[in-house]
Amino acid sequence: MRVLVTGGAGFIGANFVHQTVRERPDVHVTVLDALTYAGDEASLADVADAITFVRGDVADAEVVDRLVADADLVVHFAAESHNDNSLSDPWPFVQTNVIGTFTLLEAVRRHGVRYHHISTDEVYGDLELDDPAKFTDQTPYNPSSPYSSTKASSDLLVRAWVRSFGVQATISNCSNNYGPYQHVEKFIPRQITNLVDGVRPKLYGTGQNVRDWIHVEDHNTAVWAIVERGEIGQTYLIGADGEVDNKTVVETLLELMGQDRDAYDLVSDRPGHDLRYAIDATRLRTELGWRPQYGSFRDGLAATVEWYRANEAWWRPRKDATEAKYATLGR
Ligand code: NAD
Ligand code: DAU
Repeated sequence: MRVLVTGGAGFIGANFVHQTVRERPDVHVTVLDALTYAGDEASLADVADAITFVRGDVADAEVVDRLVADADLVVHFAAESHNDNSLSDPWPFVQTNVIGTFTLLEAVRRHGVRYHHISTDEVYGDLELDDPAKFTDQTPYNPSSPYSSTKASSDLLVRAWVRSFGVQATISNCSNNYGPYQHVEKFIPRQITNLVDGVRPKLYGTGQNVRDWIHVEDHNTAVWAIVERGEIGQTYLIGADGEVDNKTVVETLLELMGQDRDAYDLVSDRPGHDLRYAIDATRLRTELGWRPQYGSFRDGLAATVEWYRANEAWWRPRKDATEAKYATLGR
């Protein structure tokens, strides 16, 4: 099987490529990645000999057409992915997340290629802290940020291309991922690398916001389950019942890294900051038989701390520029 993985030099895409090369010798992976500030070929160094890497833009119809024509399956991870960036400059989000997805859909339509669309639980907006409800595939779309609204737009394009043109596509909406190779702009790696540098972790607002954490490898086993056993045209929510508030995440990291649990700072909040995400992944579990392998968030966090400690050469080149950007936002 020939798989085209867009965004394979980013966090989740790189983990997907590693897992696929490791566990599926019958699959040949081609990565299409523009290597934006968020992409890093070094994330694929271990598997460089086993894959084909193409530097290019998912909104470039020519390169996309050529690569899709040669594929049996497209798994589309490439995106502008960071909410804070989308508040400062939304345009790249519209270009990559909407136009890029449109470009891929037109190519898979032309060539009759199976397509899996990677999306986010943020398309559903947020939940109250004390609401027992979770997101399901029946929850109405209600995105809050430029990032999540462009992801919602891209999901709707996929649904329309399935219905109108018979494109063979599935969609997954996953909760917050953590694990190796995540950019230091994101919450968990930012705090780990701050602590390595002797800087106190920074919590937005009061730290009460809740995210539903899943290890990136569990996300990717779910993606393969959907590709292999999912029903065309369906949306699957991916989550591992990992709801934790941000303050608890920071306290756990402080403890794991040998600091006092209250040694963090509260900083100004993100505008429009979603309160709580929570996924009901019942369909994925009952219909496709998927189960997460990472049972304990604390153990997964401990392993992630060790990974960042052991791989400073990977994250160090991006740390100063990332913190300089946050400094302009007062966060
Ligand atoms: P990331 O920012 O770490 O990686 C994105 C990758 O896409 C980078 O390698 C970047 O170079 C590449 N890219 C960006 N624009 C491109 C373009 N125009 N053409 C080609 N490549 C381009 O993102 P991530 O966290 O790995 O997220 C991957 C996907 O998963 C995204 O679609 C995101 O919406 C979705 N998602 C992320 C999470 C999460 O917690 N990180 C959760 C659910 C869904
Ligand atoms: O839910 C899935 C989404 O999860 C994905 O679609 C996004 O691509 C991914 O970036 C992530 O979005 P969040 O906005 O939830 O992730 P982020 O890592 O930016 O922040 C997680 C939480 O931590 C959020 O409530 C904001 C907070 N935060 C973040 C940073 C960077 C802090 O308190 N301090 C920080 O320094």
